[in-house]
Amino acid sequence: MKTKIRGAIFLWLAVLLMSCGVPEETAVTPTTLPTAVPTAEAVTLGWTESEIAALKSLWLGSLPDLPPDPANAYGDNPAAAALGQQIFFDTRFSSNGQVSCATCHQPDLFFTDGLSLSQGVGQTGRSAPTIVGTAYSPWFFWDGRRDSQWSQALGPLESAVEHGANRTFYAHILDEDPGYRAPYEAIFDPLPDLSDRSRFPDSAGPVEDEAARAAWEAMTPADRETISRIYANVGKAIAAYERQIMPGPAPFDDYVAALLNEDEAAMQTALTADEIAGLRLFIGTARCSRCHNGPLFTNNGFHNVAVPVAEEAAPDMGRIKGIQEAVENEFNCLNLYSDAGKDDCAETRYAKMMGQELISAFKVPTLRNVAETAPYMHAGQFISLTEVLDHYNRAPAPAIGHSDLMPLNLSDGELAQLEAFLHTLSSPLAVDPALLAPPES
Ligand code: HEC
Ligand code: HEC
Repeated sequence: MKTKIRGAIFLWLAVLLMSCGVPEETAVTPTTLPTAVPTAEAVTLGWTESEIAALKSLWLGSLPDLPPDPANAYGDNPAAAALGQQIFFDTRFSSNGQVSCATCHQPDLFFTDGLSLSQGVGQTGRSAPTIVGTAYSPWFFWDGRRDSQWSQALGPLESAVEHGANRTFYAHILDEDPGYRAPYEAIFDPLPDLSDRSRFPDSAGPVEDEAARAAWEAMTPADRETISRIYANVGKAIAAYERQIMPGPAPFDDYVAALLNEDEAAMQTALTADEIAGLRLFIGTARCSRCHNGPLFTNNGFHNVAVPVAEEAAPDMGRIKGIQEAVENEFNCLNLYSDAGKDDCAETRYAKMMGQELISAFKVPTLRNVAETAPYMHAGQFISLTEVLDHYNRAPAPAIGHSDLMPLNLSDGELAQLEAFLHTLSSPLAVDPALLAPPES
């Protein structure tokens, strides 16, 4: 392809230069090219070879198949995914019977909720990120305090402000509803007899609620382990469902596909001139792809981008606290309920703990469908993409820690082009529609 591109370039340059009135014999001599045209790199269809490589790396077609999660032996089990889908949409899995995962991760909103701060049985302190494509993430939550998708799912279920209940409460639902008991037992082990409420109280777990916590502490270690194993299986089933929720190809991907096929007509239908200019800024002078790279537009890292603090009194420490929690979590890759061998847990074992750069650093979110998932940032600090881009352009000083940003000094026109480009990352999910609603019972 290289030589084909080179050939095309010289032809194109020759035509271009001739049409500018440059004498024919100089047109093919690279040393006399106008200085604005890079001489080291060939340009084809408007892009240099290294830019084409960068565009290809962002293209959805470059997304590898989802690797198995060694910590979740049921991650690719269809029956587990069906059970997980049932739980994901079931409001009975909450203290007030009104909250499910889908309350805050709504399929119609690309699995977000449209709020700055999410509302469950109470008010949370963060904004709900999408779950689309997150199965590829090594870390979960804005501060990366969990190291697997299944252990992530267990967090909201026992959070006092999200689902608000606890693990024995959930185990009893599985045990007592035949619609859950049968599929659960077909996938995992038979459920033990949980009917003795003096051993397995209605409400017990290591949660904020004092009564439920006291009840949990009064249980024998063996009974606690029995319940925690059932609870871990709930997480593994939910993760199996979430692993299927993937983005679909967007106009940006059509553009790159056309470029790779050297189909100029298709390139022009895929994106407008402004969108292309925005894309050029994104991978160029605006330096967005420093962090938003790869086919999901995230490097899976954590950065402090100096977003205003949501709560002056208690600035969010972000990753520096999250990493500590991930390493200590009872459901992490190295612990009892994980299906991974120690060698599969390198991320968690060698997690980098210290470092100024982790203070108030947050997970780099995907930008796929970002135009559809306002508001933005870990606490929904910005209500529009215009506000986000204004922030990047100014790169203010951070409240705490060190910012990874530098002012961009882009013009209003350039910011509008960048925003136009972000809209080209929207597309329907590449998901069987049956997965976007509660399963038919
Ligand atoms: C009350 C609203 C609410 C409910 C209910 C809720 N979530 Fe979330 N979810 C959030 C918020 C807010 C965050 C970010 C929290 C943080 O980072 O501290 C989040 C984060 C996540 C993430 C991490 C995404 C990433 O990129 O790291 C996943 C995955 C997720 N939730 C799945 C679930 C599942 C599965 C359930 C049900 C068991 C659930 N959520 C229930 C609001 C909610
Ligand atoms: C140094 C790394 C870095 C660079 C460079 C960077 N981002 Fe980000 N981006 C992040 C992080 C981290 C967040 C989340 C920050 C937070 O919530 O505190 C984020 C959040 C966003 C969001 C909000 C997404 C959401 O779902 O809330 C958008 C939009 C965005 N970035 C676009 C851009 C654009 C456009 C550029 C280039 C002008 C850019 N980013 C440059 C790291 C970066």
